[in-house]
Amino acid sequence: MHIHRLEKIWLAIGISMLFVFLAVVGVGAFAMGMEPPTSHRHSIDPEKVEQTAPFDKPGLEKVGDKEYNAYMIAYAFGYKQPKMEIPAGSTIHFQVTSTDVVHGFQIPGTTVNMMVVPGEVNHFSYTFTKPGEYLIICNEYCGTGHEFMSTTIIIK
Ligand code: CUA
Repeated sequence: MHIHRLEKIWLAIGISMLFVFLAVVGVGAFAMGMEPPTSHRHSIDPEKVEQTAPFDKPGLEKVGDKEYNAYMIAYAFGYKQPKMEIPAGSTIHFQVTSTDVVHGFQIPGTTVNMMVVPGEVNHFSYTFTKPGEYLIICNEYCGTGHEFMSTTIIIK
């Protein structure tokens, strides 16, 4: 009798764990399908990136007082854009796409961290308060040159 009850308890625990697991997976999938209100996704033909505005003119575009758009192209193995220099306190709206495979876009020391997916324009905004030279690195394995894939942005 005693063992039987114990088995029931374990069964109950097992079933509730299953529900917890399903709930976590369900909520996770739901959250991934949602996007933060400041982010928009646009599609772009990865083979025609360099002929498609605004990526035909990569680099900075001033859109306001201390506010810039930065159009950047990630490829194996680098980022295509002219030298970028902005004053401290500026907000940059990064808009990045890839011409080949999935790359990463991370700026250590900041919250900037996103995936760069071919066929999509990936967005991330950040306000740079501290002057310095910031490194932009790829944090998604993308091939033999992955570890050399980086560029910089200068905050004056
Ligand atoms: Cu690009 Cu790793």
